[in-house]
Amino acid sequence: MSVGRDMPPEEAFSALLADIRSGLTFMADCGCTGFDSAAPAQAPGIRETLETIRSDLGDCRRCGLSRTRNRIVFGAGSPGARLVFVGEGPGYEEDRSGVPFVGRAGQLLDRIIAAMKLTREAVYICNIVKCRPPNNRNPLPEEIESCIPFLERQIAALAPAVICTLGAVATRALLGTDAPISRLRGRFHDYRGTPVMPTYHPAFLLRHPEKKRETWGDIQKIMGLMEKNSLLTSQGKMV
Ligand code: URA
Ligand code: URA
Repeated sequence: MSVGRDMPPEEAFSALLADIRSGLTFMADCGCTGFDSAAPAQAPGIRETLETIRSDLGDCRRCGLSRTRNRIVFGAGSPGARLVFVGEGPGYEEDRSGVPFVGRAGQLLDRIIAAMKLTREAVYICNIVKCRPPNNRNPLPEEIESCIPFLERQIAALAPAVICTLGAVATRALLGTDAPISRLRGRFHDYRGTPVMPTYHPAFLLRHPEKKRETWGDIQKIMGLMEKNSLLTSQGKMV
């Protein structure tokens, strides 16, 4: 039986359950053994908001970084951003302010964003882990594992046209690879249907300014893609 328009509610509900059961049985017969429930299932066109994700994160104690952090650094920028930058994790300044990329590396990222004729407010900036690792060490695999579902949900909520990962840690975590950044950068990869351009981390560029030229090449590829998709005006502003 299928759900009919004029059925009494109880009957319609039973029919709906029967339809769901037969759909699931069919999928099981086809070899489906389960569903990914890591992120809440999203009906097409119904996206959760960044506010919902932030409130689910709450006063997070999911990993050991919560013991030493001062502030959770969730992310900043426009919920309508077409371009998302993903860094590694908060540093000293970010941990104190709760805002991503505000220290020296952040000032270099600001200059990169300005060179694209964009602003911080027009893009979205966030990190793989939301709490500062002590002494700025790399986040541990288990810290990444407990935090990355929130980044995945942020990206799904933003549905950007392009993602730029900053540095090896962010790139490897998002793309699920352990290749060196020097091999990954400079070309588009795929993250769940969204193009990802890895480039060097601005903190690395501060120590290796000679790599800025390659980074600018990567950034120009992002701009080229956005222009092709008419996401930038001729002045570079985001539309
Ligand atoms: N470095 C990062 O990777 N992220 C920040 O937010 C700041 C510095
Ligand atoms: N190693 C990193 O972690 N990031 C870079 O950008 C370069 C080397």
